[in-house]
Amino acid sequence: MILPSTAPDALTRAVDTLSAGGLVALPTETVYGLAGLSTSAGSIAKIYEAKRRPHTNPLISHVSGIEMAERFVIMDPVSRRLAQAMWPGPLTLILPLRPGGIDRSSTNGQELAAIRAPAGFAHQVITRLDAPLAAPSANTSGKISPTTAQHVAEDLGARVDLIIDGGPASLGVESTVVRVLPDGVAILRPGALSADMVAELAGVPLIGAGAGDNELSPGTLQSHYAPDAAMRLNADHVQPGEVLLNFGARQIAGTRQAAAVLDLSPKGDLSEAARNLFTYLHRADETGAAMIAVAPIPQSGIGVAINDRLQRAAAPRD
Ligand code: TXA
Ligand code: MG
Repeated sequence: MILPSTAPDALTRAVDTLSAGGLVALPTETVYGLAGLSTSAGSIAKIYEAKRRPHTNPLISHVSGIEMAERFVIMDPVSRRLAQAMWPGPLTLILPLRPGGIDRSSTNGQELAAIRAPAGFAHQVITRLDAPLAAPSANTSGKISPTTAQHVAEDLGARVDLIIDGGPASLGVESTVVRVLPDGVAILRPGALSADMVAELAGVPLIGAGAGDNELSPGTLQSHYAPDAAMRLNADHVQPGEVLLNFGARQIAGTRQAAAVLDLSPKGDLSEAARNLFTYLHRADETGAAMIAVAPIPQSGIGVAINDRLQRAAAPRD
């Protein structure tokens, strides 16, 4: 069931469904999230089941802001400064849990949790509930992330109790996952907020992820974001029948033989490319093509997150 976020009863329906232990797909500024109560082992079990997600991959808990976060986790001064600057927004912080509160089945039993305050309709729902929501991206584990309500409906269908349609996501790639350590900040997953921006706002140096952090953030290891078609990156030519995923109206040899040409941003704007990325991967699949050739994308700003998603989408699959 899809309900527009502008419907008069949208907020009440979403809150009631969640309070009753149900799952609601909610629009956020990054991608659509599959939300359930972070404090309920039953809701969390339903999320893992609906996504077919391995339990070893922990979930982000979404809060309304710093005040709610402090009820569930302990915030160090640098994390608090980042949250003050960026929340609500595309920043996820890894923080130690307080006893009780967030159910440990959402963190793979760990005492560190991922916490973010999303913008948009999700923010209103969390504020009204006055409780944190566990919400991974609302797609089957390993598949393309959803940036529209239609993507969610096509992928999860009846596995979700309610889908709120807030239109296309304004950023289009997931939040940046950050861990503050004694000697600097580590980026565990590149995202909509650039690493340079994180370092600048934090006022401490960027450092590599600590030993064990990749195991802590297993969602960043495997093949992920995968379309049905295979993918070839940094393509300088197109072969007959391939879909070309272009950027900045580049001249690519063999373009005329492409099954379809989709340009992430003809004017070469990386934010526009991020917004279009997952929608265009969905569209490329709809052509039925067996291969997507992807033009080079600049590795700067949000381009780092775009290339991260493309590399995982192109990674060998089991
Ligand atoms: O923008 C986003 O972050 C979206 C929207 C819906 O908020 N959510 C999202 O969730 O992308 P998900 O579950 O698809 O990705 C969460 C990422 C994964 O890479 C996971 O491994 C990592 O965060 N993560 C979650 N909990 C963690 C923890 N306790 N420690 C380290 N990494 C964690
Ligand atoms: Mg995801």
